Amino acid sequence: MKKDDSSRTTNDAGIPVASDEHSLTVGPDGPVLLQDHYLIEQMANFNRERIPERQPHAKGSGAFGYFEVTQDVSAYTKAAVFQPGARTDTLIRFSTVAGERGSPDTWRDPRGFALKFYTSEGNYDMVGNNTPVFFVRDPMKFQHFIRSQKRRADSGLRDHDMMWDFWTLSPESAHQVTILMGDRGVPKSYRHMNGYSSHTYMWVNTKGERFWIKYHFKTDQGNDFLTQEEADRLAGEDADVHRRDLFESIANGDYPSWTLKVQIMPFEEAKDYRFNPFDLTKIWPHGDYPLQEVGRLTLDRNPTDFHTEIEQVAFEPNNVVPGIGFSPDKMLLARVFSYADAHRARMGVNYKQIPVNRPKCAVHSYSKDGLMRVENVSDPVYAPNSKGGPEANHTYTEKWEASGEFMHAAYTLREEDDDFGQPGTLVRKVMDDAARERLVSNVVGHLKAGVSEAVLKRAFEYWRNIDKDVGDRIEKGVRGN
Ligand code: HEM
Repeated sequence: MKKDDSSRTTNDAGIPVASDEHSLTVGPDGPVLLQDHYLIEQMANFNRERIPERQPHAKGSGAFGYFEVTQDVSAYTKAAVFQPGARTDTLIRFSTVAGERGSPDTWRDPRGFALKFYTSEGNYDMVGNNTPVFFVRDPMKFQHFIRSQKRRADSGLRDHDMMWDFWTLSPESAHQVTILMGDRGVPKSYRHMNGYSSHTYMWVNTKGERFWIKYHFKTDQGNDFLTQEEADRLAGEDADVHRRDLFESIANGDYPSWTLKVQIMPFEEAKDYRFNPFDLTKIWPHGDYPLQEVGRLTLDRNPTDFHTEIEQVAFEPNNVVPGIGFSPDKMLLARVFSYADAHRARMGVNYKQIPVNRPKCAVHSYSKDGLMRVENVSDPVYAPNSKGGPEANHTYTEKWEASGEFMHAAYTLREEDDDFGQPGTLVRKVMDDAARERLVSNVVGHLKAGVSEAVLKRAFEYWRNIDKDVGDRIEKGVRGN
C-alpha cells in the first residue's frame, strides 16, 4: 500500500478501515460487535463535535487578509504594525451579538468587528463593533444588558419588553439604541459597514509620548443597509445571507477592504475635555478631533475549515502590543479580563496553541502543561533563573496615573456629560427625513411586539428626551392615532 493514499479511508490513527458503510456484525443479520472500534470512534467523535458557542456574538463569519500602512503615524505610535511600509497578516470575524450560532444574519443588532493582527511583536486584537458607542458605560451592567437581549427564563423566548425595560431604565443606552434602531442596525452585508474600536486606546511613540486614540475602519464598499422588511424576508429565505455574501465575494476575487482612520487626542487634553472622553456612550466630534488615515485592511482569503479557523479563533482586548495601551474606560478594563476567561472556559487553557491563535513571532512564556498543551516546554520553567531563561523588560508597560478611594460610583460628571445630547444630534443633524422616518417606523414596530404598558410609557419619554418630535411620532405610531 502507498504510504499517503488519500483515496483510502483511515481512522484517526491513520490505520486503513474496512468499511464506511457497514458496521462489524456476526453474520449479515447478527449483533454489532464492541470491537468495531472504528464505528465507536465515529459515534464518539460525532457526539463531541460541538464546542460551546460564544456567550454573546455566537453567530459569526470570518476571513483572512492583510493590513498595510499607507500613512506615516510613527509620530504617535511605535507599534510595529503601524510603522511605514508594514504589512501584517490579519484575521477578521464579523458577528451579530444576541442571536445563537444558527440565528439569522439579518436580525437587528450591532455587528462585531473583531480583528487579529499577527504582528512581529505578538498578536494585536482590536475587538470592536460596527457602532462607535455602546449601550452601557460600566462593566457591572454588561452581563445584565446581554441577558435582557437574549432569552427569557420561562418561555425561552426573546422578549422586547425585557429589552425596552432595561434600555429605558438605563438612559446611557440612548445613543447606541438610536444607532441600532436606525439604518446601521441592519447592514446590507458585512462588507457594507464600518468598524470602530468604540473605546479609546492609548498610543505611545518612541519618545514615550502618549496619545488617546479611537479607530474607525471605513468600508471602501460604501455603507449600505437593509430595511426592516428586507431583513425580515431574508431572515426566512437565507438566514446565512451575510456569511454567504462574504464567502462568495472573496471566492470570486472581489476582495472587500476598509480604510483605517484614527482620531487622536493629545494626552493632556483628556483631563479637561468638556465631557469624559473615555465614556463609551459618546463619540468625539470630528470637528475637535479629525480623522487621520493610517492604512488599509483587505480580506483576500476564505477559511478552509470554519471550525478550526473561525469558531475557535480567540479574540481578546488584552492582546495589545508595545506602542499600544489601554485607557481609563471602565468597560475596556473589564474586557481585558473577560475574554481570555471566556476562551479558557470554552476551549481550555491552551487555546493559544490552536494554530489560528498562535502568534507568528516566537513565544518565550513561562506557561507550562495543562489540558491539550501540544507545544514542548523547555527548561528553565521558572523565573528568575540563572540558567539563561527569557527575561522580562520593564520598558514594555504603557502607563497612566490614577489615585483615589475605593468606591462603587459613576464617572465624575463634566459640563457636557449627558445621555441624550449626542443621540439628539444624530437624529436631527445626521439623519435626513427619510432616515428619521425609518427610525420611527423601526421603533414603532419593535415596541408593538409585546411591550407592556408601563415600559411603553417610559419608552415614549426616553425617545422624547432624545428628540421631542421623534418621541411624539413614536407614541402616535404605537397608539395608532
Ligand atoms: C464577544 C464580554 C463589551 C465586542 C464577547 C465575549 C465575551 C464578551 C465574554 C465572548 C468571547 C468568546 O467567547 O470568544 C464583554 C464584556 C464587555 C463587552 C464583559 C463589557 C464590559 C464589548 C464591546 C464591544 C464588544 C464594548 C465592542 C466595542 C465584542 C465582539 C465579540 C465579543 C466583536 C465577538 C468576538 C469574536 O468574533 O470572537 N464579549 N464584551 N464587546 N465582544 Fe464583547
